Amino acid sequence: MRRLFPVTDETAARDSGGGPGTAGADGADREWGLEELAAAYAYPSGSGPAGPEPWLRANMVSTLDGAAQHDGRSQPISSAADMRIFGTLRALADAVVVGAETVRQEGYRPARAREDFAALREAAGQGPAPAIAVVSASLDLDFSLPLFTSPLVPTLVLTGAAAATDRIAAAEKAGVQVVIAGDGMGVDPARAVRALADRGLYRLLTEGGPRLLGQLVAAGVLDELCLTVSPMLTAGDAQRIAGGPPVAVPRRFELTSLLEEAGFLFSRYRRT
Ligand SMILES: NC(=O)c1ccc[n+]([C@@H]2O[C@H](COP(=O)([O-])OP(=O)(O)OC[C@H]3O[C@@H](n4cnc5c(N)ncnc54)[C@H](OP(=O)(O)O)[C@@H]3O)[C@@H](O)[C@H]2O)c1
Repeated sequence: MRRLFPVTDETAARDSGGGPGTAGADGADREWGLEELAAAYAYPSGSGPAGPEPWLRANMVSTLDGAAQHDGRSQPISSAADMRIFGTLRALADAVVVGAETVRQEGYRPARAREDFAALREAAGQGPAPAIAVVSASLDLDFSLPLFTSPLVPTLVLTGAAAATDRIAAAEKAGVQVVIAGDGMGVDPARAVRALADRGLYRLLTEGGPRLLGQLVAAGVLDELCLTVSPMLTAGDAQRIAGGPPVAVPRRFELTSLLEEAGFLFSRYRRT
């Protein structure tokens, strides 16, 4: 892993013929420890309970030709380094917001407590693992799965006020915290972010999928995008990372960080 942007003294020295980077230099191609990754992806300081402003970042992977999945999953277009960053981003989050279709297709399980991040989470006043917050209108979810019955911290389901009462009852029976964040069937993204913050969940991470991310973009609630560009081409008609109706005016983001490993680019953009 090496840092390509922002350009540091170490990166510049290496680019101007300084030879292989010195140990510990950002620009050197070497394996980064989880602590370093956690520091590189730290949430802005105002986005904790002391802020208290929520911060919503997305973590997505895309091929060179824009596919957000292959054979219905993101794993084939990911890499070991991508999964390390995926795990790090989870470890920094209070809650992981995810669309119901991704939960169904990727077979979501509860977030694990990671020994490597235990001290960091404790210092940040966080529980042992992030809560998973599933966004669903239909509540067509298998509430007998471990994601709902045996998470370390209770799983949340965000839904609309018109959701079927028997499905709400089934969710609650499994131990799920049902959060109403919309007047009809659907969830209003801004209301969802506020409802999570009201529960002390400020450092938010969404793992998509594309239909959910498109709505978060359209509603203007996405603060940051951590985008992995996978050096692969898949052709076909896979979804892009964000779907749904286009926004009237493109949302502008600025690059804050770019890492590289084995041809995979790990970018970090925040809204301007
Ligand atoms: N490349 C990546 O980084 C990445 C990341 C994640 C997922 N993926 C891939 O993306 C695919 C799934 O993504 P997707 O776009 O089809 O689905 P998705 O966004 O994961 O989930 C869509 C579902 O979420 C619920 N939902 C979304 N917006 C809602 C709202 N405003 N109110 C209430 N419920 C709402 C609905 O659930 P109900 O149907 O239950 O009502 C909807 O059917 C999978 O193939 C997965 O592998 C790729």
